[in-house]
Amino acid sequence: MNKILRISHLSKTYQSGFQALKDINLEISRGEIFALLGQNGAGKTTLISIICGIVNPSSGQVLVDGKNIIQDYREARSLIGLVPQELFTDSFETVWNTVCFSRGLYGKAPDPQLIEKTLKDLSLWDKRNNKIITLSGGMKRRLMIAKALSHEPKILFLDEPTAGVDVSLRKDMWDLVRDLKNTGTTVILTTHYIEEAEEMADRIGIIRNGELILVEEKLSLMKKLGKKELTLQLQHPLAVIPEALNIPGLTLSEDRTELIYTFDLNSKQIGIAELLQTLSRLGLGFKDLHTKQSSLEEIFVNLVNEGVTAHEA
Ligand SMILES: Nc1ncnc2c1ncn2[C@@H]1O[C@H](COP(=O)(O)OP(=O)(O)O)[C@@H](O)[C@H]1O
Ligand SMILES: [Mg+2]
Repeated sequence: MNKILRISHLSKTYQSGFQALKDINLEISRGEIFALLGQNGAGKTTLISIICGIVNPSSGQVLVDGKNIIQDYREARSLIGLVPQELFTDSFETVWNTVCFSRGLYGKAPDPQLIEKTLKDLSLWDKRNNKIITLSGGMKRRLMIAKALSHEPKILFLDEPTAGVDVSLRKDMWDLVRDLKNTGTTVILTTHYIEEAEEMADRIGIIRNGELILVEEKLSLMKKLGKKELTLQLQHPLAVIPEALNIPGLTLSEDRTELIYTFDLNSKQIGIAELLQTLSRLGLGFKDLHTKQSSLEEIFVNLVNEGVTAHEA
């Protein structure tokens, strides 16, 4: 089975009556890095908490590698590693013991070599005998990852892994996630940083008010990112676009005073110079010209703020 996670018709209404998730449908492939992007309160933690068995769903089904999170709870849970958004780590226990203990919780036999490798990968090896309470925030976060990886899960959930983490640590985290991908681990992370989703993910899902409004390959979102728009304010309104200007991407504004040229930085459309030459050859003067580039940020903000519902899940 190629899909490691299948979520179908998942909804959640909290006891307060608040509906935090609405009919979520999503499939995740093995080895994929998926970023769930959404503002605070969108429902990201609720979704992860349901998959990890911390919160009960109101309806719908979740299968982790074919195991139902309710009927086959223990099997499903043992396939999952979770690094929660809130860190509960003030303890007098040592780094080494904590990670070994986490592994034991899943009934796995001790494997000091694996723990050693994990701690080394996470730059925690030097701290193995330190008490957790002495660690910095960034180290605590890495320790949480070591704990989550201790039982060799197939899917790792990172809920806001870099919230409140400084820039250099954030980069380390990105490297770490890429390394995990190389070992075949599927990673699902939540974030409200677009940059982070852009940096790490193969696919991005955007969640708004409990609804998954868009799921798209990162690269195809990046293509949209490469779109540019050039607006030419004409000296005199045009009735129609002249034949010679019949080029893909060129449109006339509704009030006929502007020519708008949308072009893709990645494709071989005609260049701006060529367009301007044609205009001058046709004797079409313009008063002003400006360009605008759409960014993923803009796409995201539009999707989240406006009433767009592009269901693609
Ligand atoms: N136990 C709860 N009872 C009632 N409402 C909750 C509970 N937990 C979360 N919520 C609400 O559900 C919504 C989604 O929360 P959450 O999943 O934490 O969002 P995110 O992680 O995207 O910030 C929020 O409006 C939040 O206030
Ligand atoms: Mg959250």
